[in-house]
Amino acid sequence: MAVSERIRRSAVALLAQWADRPVRWPCRKRFLSGDAPGTIGTCGAEASADDGGWHALGIDTDVTPSTAAGPEPRADRARLDRPRPDAVDTTRRRGRMTPAKHATIARLAPTLGLDADDGGPWRDRLVAAFGRDAPRLLDVGVGAADATIAWALAHPDQDVVAVEVHRPSLAAAFAAVEAAGVDNLRIVEADVRRVLADLEPGDVTAVRVLFPDPWPKARHHKRRLVGAEFVARVADVVPPGGWLHVATDWPDYAGAVRAAIAAEPRLEVVADPGPLVERPVTVYERRGLDAGRPPVDVVARRRA
Ligand SMILES: C[S@@+](CC[C@H](N)C(=O)[O-])C[C@H]1O[C@@H](n2cnc3c(N)ncnc32)[C@H](O)[C@@H]1O
Repeated sequence: MAVSERIRRSAVALLAQWADRPVRWPCRKRFLSGDAPGTIGTCGAEASADDGGWHALGIDTDVTPSTAAGPEPRADRARLDRPRPDAVDTTRRRGRMTPAKHATIARLAPTLGLDADDGGPWRDRLVAAFGRDAPRLLDVGVGAADATIAWALAHPDQDVVAVEVHRPSLAAAFAAVEAAGVDNLRIVEADVRRVLADLEPGDVTAVRVLFPDPWPKARHHKRRLVGAEFVARVADVVPPGGWLHVATDWPDYAGAVRAAIAAEPRLEVVADPGPLVERPVTVYERRGLDAGRPPVDVVARRRA
């Protein structure tokens, strides 16, 4: 047996022992979860064996022991092979998937979810899903969706598209949306940068990012979701009068968001955003408050 094959089988056996547990990948800066080979990914971050981690070592899932894959259907795992629109990973990917979480997603995605891979025009699909063409909020990185549900309940005249890339959070969001019984909210499992790339101007009215992963270390700032590129793409898709809202408890991140908005001529910061920033205290906001970091809300409007 070739040495490379022996190494590969050893890696598979080792990873099988860690199925459904967080795995800390060796820092190789390549072949990381969902990334194209040779690109920089979640080096040193925690990943889960069930969220694409097999690909972190360049391992073909065809040889993955069935115990490692758990109950997740093959089609779901195959989705993780696709390259992301951007080589840099923006989420820390903590947490684990359980059979119950897999089952929650599988049960609720057909009714409460929207498929980022559908390929059809988003506007048509959104109008069909909600049964109307109302103002739409794109809520990014929603975690357990507490603030997302609150917005949907408070604004029955609007529709909400929640995007989350992290599967354990996604399971929590689906369960919470089902429990809340809101019908003007759908959840998309995707990297939001990919969704933004597929949206046409006017498909959403507003974009909100509550407490994006802070990546506080300077060497990790490149992983921050909200920067010049993100802001420019938001300006592409929201109509005049549309808005972007970013909340963070990291003052330097807020400053960087303001700077990105200042450099984007189509957007201007709103001095008094009023009810636009109303929300319940989110899970991550609470953590910041407990650590002595009050939230900073930055709201920008699209100029006419
Ligand atoms: C710090 S948590 C905040 C969750 C929630 N908004 C809150 O305030 O409690 C950031 C969330 O953004 C998600 N996220 C990070 N990068 C993302 C991306 N590129 N696309 C979609 N979601 C992303 C993470 O998975 C995580 O759930």
